[in-house]
Amino acid sequence: MKKILITGGAGFIGSHVVRRFVQNYPNCHIFNLDALTYAGNLENIADIERAPNYTFVKGDIVDDTFINQLFEEHQFDGVLHLAAESHVDRSIEDPLSFVKTNVIGTMNLLNAAKNQWKGQEAGKRFYHISTDEVYGSLGAEGLFTETTSYDPNSPYSASKASSDHFVRAYGETYGLPYVITNCSNNYGPNHFPEKLIPLFINNIINNKALPVYGDGKYTRDWLFVEDHAVAIDLVFHQGRNHETYNIGGFNEWQNIDLVKLLCGIMDQKLGRATGTSEKLISYVKDRPGHDLRYAIDASKINKELGWKPSVTFEQGLERTVDWYLNNEEWLKHVTSGEYAKYYEKQYEA
Ligand code: NAD
Ligand code: TYD
Repeated sequence: MKKILITGGAGFIGSHVVRRFVQNYPNCHIFNLDALTYAGNLENIADIERAPNYTFVKGDIVDDTFINQLFEEHQFDGVLHLAAESHVDRSIEDPLSFVKTNVIGTMNLLNAAKNQWKGQEAGKRFYHISTDEVYGSLGAEGLFTETTSYDPNSPYSASKASSDHFVRAYGETYGLPYVITNCSNNYGPNHFPEKLIPLFINNIINNKALPVYGDGKYTRDWLFVEDHAVAIDLVFHQGRNHETYNIGGFNEWQNIDLVKLLCGIMDQKLGRATGTSEKLISYVKDRPGHDLRYAIDASKINKELGWKPSVTFEQGLERTVDWYLNNEEWLKHVTSGEYAKYYEKQYEA
């Protein structure tokens, strides 16, 4: 039985990937390694926790001794690495924790895989899941391709860029079999309510202000998380060795237009009069180093692997809103405790 390690599988994207792999590959044993930080939540994957081909391991990728022991014990055939500190605003407050997890943590996994697979690289794969934010910011025109130069602007994107470079370097220097994907902004169920869409859904439910940074004209390319999980599955199994693939939604939105669309859906779902939620919009101080626009050219993965998004933005957003409205307990759990302190510091200080 093949053994696959997925890191960060209690987080937003990781939980969708773990579920997909556990359900679709009964002949593989899936190990989910997660430190359960504020962003990790076992409720995200409660439905598969008893599957016979699934094991959860609580642990920190920054701890090299632990990582080496884990690899020694299980002799993994493949790694899908999603564990990360992932929120730009937190990276502005505490860049070092991003270096620790995103750079040192990735290095520890790379070293363990390199040492374990030395001389037996055939059939092995280290898959590093990264972001389009490594490319920096676009102006009004153009798209990020796989050959766009790295130009990260936030401590988050700088740490992800650094980890991408190390993965590539391990491939070139030590022959580590790797693949990297750089994906645009995801949205969907289980998204921690510090990122734009789930934060605003939660605030609308609670009649709280919707803090739009700057003039709201910043643009992101949005992808439904389950479509990302499908792309990850394809790249892991069929992507070419030592290649990078960009993944995106072909779906650019200025923040303010997205927020207005979301407000309309929420008014309808909550039975509130049209225009009620839009009144909560409040323009606030901009994020420092805020990237103007991200947009992905996903033609390589489309041509080589036949992937394209299956869900329109309107469908995906409606499914997302329905999920949050049907999972109030989940929202309550993740917004208790540390969340209130973070919120106060970020938005009310
Ligand atoms: P997330 O913050 O929701 O989840 C991260 C997970 O990693 C959590 O479960 C957390 O407990 C775990 N983790 C954090 N530090 C750890 C450590 N030191 N050791 C072990 N586990 C640790 O993040 P996400 O949004 O699901 O993102 C997953 C990956 O995808 C990240 O690498 C991110 O850079 C990348 N990505 C995210 C997006 C997006 O829009 N969310 C887009 C493109 C790429
Ligand atoms: P976010 O969800 O943090 O993702 P990223 O910064 O990785 O793209 O933010 C998406 C966009 O929404 C980004 O332009 C910043 C903006 N934003 C707000 O206007 N207000 C907020 O409270 C947050 C969290 C984000």
